[in-house]
Amino acid sequence: MSNEPQNTEIDDFEPLIQAGHVICSSGSVEDLGDGFRFMVRSSDIASQVHGIDHRVDATLPAFLIRHDGQVHAYLNRCAHVAMELDWQPGQFLTQDKSAIICASHDAQYLPDTGECISGPCPRGARLIKLDIEEKEGQIFLCQAV
Ligand code: FES
Repeated sequence: MSNEPQNTEIDDFEPLIQAGHVICSSGSVEDLGDGFRFMVRSSDIASQVHGIDHRVDATLPAFLIRHDGQVHAYLNRCAHVAMELDWQPGQFLTQDKSAIICASHDAQYLPDTGECISGPCPRGARLIKLDIEEKEGQIFLCQAV
C-alpha cells in the first residue's frame, strides 16, 4: 500500500464526456480499485436510460469501475435518494470489493448490473447503467441510439 496521497489534487476534476468520446484510458481504472468520476449530459444519454428527462439538458455525475476485469459505468446517483454514492471521491466498493455501496444508508448494488441487493432502495431498484465500450486501451461513452 502506497503512502502517497490518493488523487486529492484531481478529486474536483470531473471531465464532461460527450457520447462517442473517450472517458479515460483503460489503465486509469484498476480492477477492484477506485472508480473514475466524470460528467455526462442528459441529452447524450437520454435515449439509453429511463428516468432521465431529456428535455432538460442537465449535467449529471457518473462513474466507472472495473470489477473482475470488466468496466461498468453508472450515473452516480443512488436508487434510494438521488445522492452521489461514493463515501470518498472515487471509492464506490464495499470493503470486500464484492458490491457497490452507497455511503449515505449502505444500499448495495451488483457491480455488473447495478441491481440493488440490500439496503433501503425500493424493490427492483437499480443504478442507471451507461453504455460504454473498451477498445484499444481506452474506454468510450457510446453514442446514444
Ligand atoms: S441515499 Fe443511498 S442508500 Fe440512501
